[in-house]
Amino acid sequence: MMSRSVQDASSGVVPPPAVSGAVDDDAVVGRGLHFSYGDSHVLQDVDLRVGVGEIVVLIGPSGCGKSTILNLIAGTIAPSAGSLTCSGVPIRGLNRRVTYLTQRDTLLPWRTALDNAALPLEIKHVARAERHRRAGEALARVGVDHASGRRLHELSGGMRSRVALARALLSESDIFLLDEPFAAIDALLRVKLQRLLIDVWESTRKTMIYVTHDLSEAICLGDRVIVMGANPGRVVLERSITTPHPRDPARFRTTTEAQQIYEELWTALDQ
Ligand SMILES: Nc1ncnc2c1ncn2[C@@H]1O[C@H](COP(=O)(O)OP(=O)(O)OP(=O)(O)O)[C@@H](O)[C@H]1O
Ligand SMILES: [Mg+2]
Repeated sequence: MMSRSVQDASSGVVPPPAVSGAVDDDAVVGRGLHFSYGDSHVLQDVDLRVGVGEIVVLIGPSGCGKSTILNLIAGTIAPSAGSLTCSGVPIRGLNRRVTYLTQRDTLLPWRTALDNAALPLEIKHVARAERHRRAGEALARVGVDHASGRRLHELSGGMRSRVALARALLSESDIFLLDEPFAAIDALLRVKLQRLLIDVWESTRKTMIYVTHDLSEAICLGDRVIVMGANPGRVVLERSITTPHPRDPARFRTTTEAQQIYEELWTALDQ
């Protein structure tokens, strides 16, 4: 766990130094992570532990290093200092244990929505008819099956996000990295997709590390929310949320617990 908390565990805030409780089979453990681009210090002394099957949400101001943390876990970049393991194994090079929904989607422009969604099955040499059937189902789950034959330039930003999510749903990795996956999606549909994600989590117990700018989304989805500060990127607060999933966004938001958490996160962000 990343930990710089200031309150006790009875209030739901995880006590430091939580990373010391890390065990080998944790999904992700980072210790003393630093990352720089040249002279620019992006991350400073970040500790991170994500347990198997946990949903950990990262929030923080633009540029504080949220995507950088996901990139480190995906292995597209390496820390300047510190150690980072996935299921106890040091991450060196691309981390094939994770499925990564990047902030800017990595869909292939020359392919249709259906063939983009089907990519994880194609890599595994699943027969064409079968992968189209399953990709069609995944597109239906995210509500874009009507656009399955369209190429990417014919899709809206929100439709592209959903195709990327459909593709992720067809991958078998047990760790999802999700970087603002629903940022381009309207509020009503976003709630439906959050529910879908929780349905997926309930049936698979995938580990999820989820970046968002939306505090309500963070509170609705997270088992833990980690608040980061900027310049350099660091952890300023970590808050566990024990209310079981699924949390109805409209109802949970009105509870005293949710309002208190919102207040705490907002105060930490504002510092
Ligand atoms: N390829 C790069 N070269 C140099 N600096 C970079 C590069 N990528 C990111 N940065 C810098 O690293 C810092 C952290 O970027 P990062 O993308 O992790 O922020 P973020 O918290 O995800 O922000 P946002 O909420 O806007 O997505 C920023 O100052 C950014 O300008
Ligand atoms: Mg980002």
